[in-house]
Parts: sequence; structure tokens; C-alpha cells
Amino acid sequence: MSYTKINEQLWDRWSQEGDQWTRPISSEEFQQAQQGNWHVLLTPTIPVPKEWFGSLHGKRVLGLASGGGQQGPIFCALGADVTIMDQSAAQLATEKAVAEREGYDIELVKADMTQRFPFDNDSFDLIFHPVSNTYVEELASIWEECYRVLRQGGRLLTGFTNPEIYMFNEVEKLEDIRLVHPLPYNPLKDFTDAEREAIIKEEGLQFSHTMETQIRGQLQAGFLLKDFYEDYANADEYILSHYFPQFYASLAVKL
Ligand SMILES: C[S@@+](CC[C@H](N)C(=O)[O-])C[C@H]1O[C@@H](n2cnc3c(N)ncnc32)[C@H](O)[C@@H]1O
Repeated sequence: MSYTKINEQLWDRWSQEGDQWTRPISSEEFQQAQQGNWHVLLTPTIPVPKEWFGSLHGKRVLGLASGGGQQGPIFCALGADVTIMDQSAAQLATEKAVAEREGYDIELVKADMTQRFPFDNDSFDLIFHPVSNTYVEELASIWEECYRVLRQGGRLLTGFTNPEIYMFNEVEKLEDIRLVHPLPYNPLKDFTDAEREAIIKEEGLQFSHTMETQIRGQLQAGFLLKDFYEDYANADEYILSHYFPQFYASLAVKL
């Protein structure tokens, strides 16, 4: 089975279990967004600055690996024409359920982002890509595909993990933290079959990447980097946040 299929099954399971990133917004949050009171997350805690979006009314927005009913409904409430692409059928089913509950149209596309995106060139004004590229091994083709399907002047908003989090063991107490892996972290390469099986059950197949593949990768695809922030996240939940930001977000523009 391909590693992306393994991750697809993991997200289907997490959706059934009600993982934090699979829980949709409420009707009240949808109605608030219609009144102009809204925020969305690319990373766990810091709301994305509103100026990163501009006006969304009438814009074509692609939520890339963004199923689960957290951001799609907000963009629809703001009058955007929204497509959500995700490889998890369960995450897309949640998107559909929210759309039916609130009575709006949304395009849902089941596709693996490591493959050519199933969209024409210059299709979208904005791509919203929350933390998810940690589930794919190679990033270059994703940046190239984002560039291809965006219109000139289109924006790419991306959340991603700090690669350093993969250097440490999983702990509940600060005093137990140890350095355990060199970077880059790639469970397809660095582990025995038994170790890999154990990792798959816990967290699926995740990859650390580098700042070069994240930032330079976007620049090499043709994007101009416009803005950037760090998210320390909630240190009770993400213990390494006591030491460094665990997540980053970037805004890039297609020239
Ligand atoms: C952390 S969730 C992000 C979604 C969520 N809406 C949020 O609030 O951030 C990561 C998403 O990436 C999707 N995903 C992982 N690997 C993927 C791939 N290769 N192609 C498409 N989607 C993928 C998962 O199914 C999951 O919905």
C-alpha cells in the first residue's frame, strides 16, 4: 500500500474518532461568519491575519488538504466560490454535512495532493493550505501545482510544522525530553518494519521537511513570499512549545 493511502486511512479513522482537526464549525459560528465575525487557522492557535485574504466575496478559493468543515464553511459564508480537495472521504463527508446543514453549494474533490491536481491552469484566486504537507514526502510538485492552478496575483496561504519537532521523543513531561532523531525525519527510510508499523498506528507517516523545501520550494515554483509568522501553539498540548515555535505560516503570491 502507498504511504499516502496509509495516511488516508489514518485521517478517515481520526475523523471517526473526532480528532480536533476533523471537528466542523457550529451553525452559530457559520452565522457569525455571515455577519463578518470570523477567523480561520492555518496553524493550531494564531488566527490568520485578515489582510492575507483581502475580500473573499466572489473569489474562487481552493482549500487544499483542508477537509473537515473548519474553513470551507467560513469561506462560503463570506461569499467565496469554494472547492475543498482532500484525500480523506471522511473529511469530505463532514464538509458535505455542514454544507447541507447550512444550505450552501461547495465543490468537494477527493484527490491526493502528491499527484497532478484535477484543476485547469489559472483556476483559483486563493489557495488555503493548512498544516498537512507533513503527510507527504516530497513538496516540490505541490508548490508547482499550486502555482499552476492559481491565477496571476493569486495567493497561497500555507501552514507547516517546524521540522525540529521531529528531533525529539514524544513526552508528557518537560524533564523527559530527549534528542532522538537526526533531521530530516523520514519513517519510510530511517526505521525497521516493526518500528514503522508502531509509528503508523500512532501518527501515520509524517515527514519533517526542511526550511529550504518549505520556503525556497515556494520561491523556486515562482511565488513571491509576502508574509510569515510563528505559532508557539498551546504548550499544555504541544510541550515543545515551551522551547520554540512548533508551527509556521506563510503568505505567498503568484507573480
Ligand atoms: C491537519 S488536517 C487539516 C484540515 C483541517 N481542515 C484544519 O483545520 O486544519 C490535514 C488534512 O490533510 C489531508 N491530507 C493528508 N495527506 C493528504 C494528501 N496526500 N492529499 C490530500 N489530502 C491529504 C488529511 O486528510 C486531512 O484532512
